[in-house]
Amino acid sequence: MKIDILTIFPGMFDGFLSNSIIKRAIERNLVEINIINFRDYSQDPHHKVDDTPYGGGNGMVLMVQPIYDAVMALRKEDTKVILLTPDGEKYNQRKAYELKKYNHLIIICGHYEGFDDRIRSVVDYEVSIGDYVLTGGEIPAMILTDSITRLVDGVIEEGSHINDSFNPDTNLLDYPTYTKPREFMGMKVPDVLLNGNHKEIEEFRYNESVRKTKERRPDLLEK
Ligand code: ADE
Repeated sequence: MKIDILTIFPGMFDGFLSNSIIKRAIERNLVEINIINFRDYSQDPHHKVDDTPYGGGNGMVLMVQPIYDAVMALRKEDTKVILLTPDGEKYNQRKAYELKKYNHLIIICGHYEGFDDRIRSVVDYEVSIGDYVLTGGEIPAMILTDSITRLVDGVIEEGSHINDSFNPDTNLLDYPTYTKPREFMGMKVPDVLLNGNHKEIEEFRYNESVRKTKERRPDLLEK
């Protein structure tokens, strides 16, 4: 899986790429993540990437040319191009599984007051991470990259995403987990988890998943 992220703030990704599971996935060549400054593709003599909106209004708008040229230079036959925007389709785990199937993704981070609408001409998916507006697409790009990377084979322990909340096959929330000590401030670990009976443990976890989902997210069960 290769993910190219187009941004004018590459520094925002430093911590994201150099820690924990993402760092390890890169080191083990399970994913390739490239942070590309689309300012480098600007044909403007001063490498300008934004300008004032036609028709007037506040703020600056990202120009189509630098992003268009960057996508054209990077795109291969099987590439999917994703634009991050609050008016895109709401992101969820199902979408993460769908995007994980592709070999190459280009993710475009919008910024400022918005982007020239003609950028949409090179885009396959428009994605929003939720009904709120951020200063740019960088945090959403990290959210997509993180959620997709952990689904790539070998990145986390085999099978450990089967019980994830929102797994499209079960659509259940994850069951509660515990670790040492057995008792903390009078709160005890359920006995069933201590008895070593794997069938009973599995049953308990499944029932807890269903109970939690009914209580917190009954909408998931209706799907
Ligand atoms: N850019 C700004 N806000 C966003 C959001 N909610 N989702 C995706 N991209 C965004």
